[in-house]
Amino acid sequence: MNTGQSIGVFDSGYGGLTVFKSIAKQLPQYNYIYLGDNARSPYGDHSFETVYQYTLECVEWLFEQGCPLVILACNTASAKALRTIQQKVLPVKYPNHRVLGVIRPTAEVVGQYTRDKTVGVMGTRGTVNSLSYLMEINKFFPEVKVLQQACPMWVPLIENNEHLNPGADYFVQKYLDELLEQDADIDCILLACTHYPLLIPKLKAILPVGIELLGQGDIVANSLELYLKNHPEIVAKIDREGIRKFFTSGDRQAFDQHASIFFGEAVQSDQMHLKL
Ligand code: DGL
Repeated sequence: MNTGQSIGVFDSGYGGLTVFKSIAKQLPQYNYIYLGDNARSPYGDHSFETVYQYTLECVEWLFEQGCPLVILACNTASAKALRTIQQKVLPVKYPNHRVLGVIRPTAEVVGQYTRDKTVGVMGTRGTVNSLSYLMEINKFFPEVKVLQQACPMWVPLIENNEHLNPGADYFVQKYLDELLEQDADIDCILLACTHYPLLIPKLKAILPVGIELLGQGDIVANSLELYLKNHPEIVAKIDREGIRKFFTSGDRQAFDQHASIFFGEAVQSDQMHLKL
């Protein structure tokens, strides 16, 4: 039956495409709508209130397009907006809709990747200052020590496609050093921003031996697959034609040029018009 409904995937900009890539590979049968709020990204340094307002507007827009389930494929939005949307907005305005984030599924498994029980978390200032990873990892792995490092220059470098150029080296090395100086036992680094997987080639080249780099794409895809198994009532609403649509609040041409770097294949976007 064609219900006209899709799974929504949201990010402040391009980064969520690294998660969407894993989701689309693992669960290719569903219809999806990706929305990047490129007109207002990066979100990393905005206040809680601003990230909440922006995220809510985008989530409600995805609901209007027929998405009963929306994944916030953005750590900053997951840290600053998810809980309020889940606890205050959905029960009152959208009792049949669901919104999921990327922090909890990541925290649920991160302890499996550290031998010395010491994890470094690299994220935006917003994600780091929210302390969300400290709290969530502690719930699942109380014995794991978590060190955090904000990397405010990384998203702008990546959004401007400067991340693999030599000019980016200084900031890649700087934040990595600042993290590793906090604890010599760090043996797993979680890239807690969906933009950061694009830095993996550079990070791998300078990372001390024995430290594992952990991205979130496959973790979130696995968790979504499990969620859908446990929620047949949501699955029943979603069309299975494998159609993927892309929307941006920013410049469509720029999005189409840049998005393939994150998604791994050519992308053609439509315009999303902001209200705020
Ligand atoms: N990709 C987003 C994240 O995972 C944030 C980037 C930003 O807008 O600052 O945190």
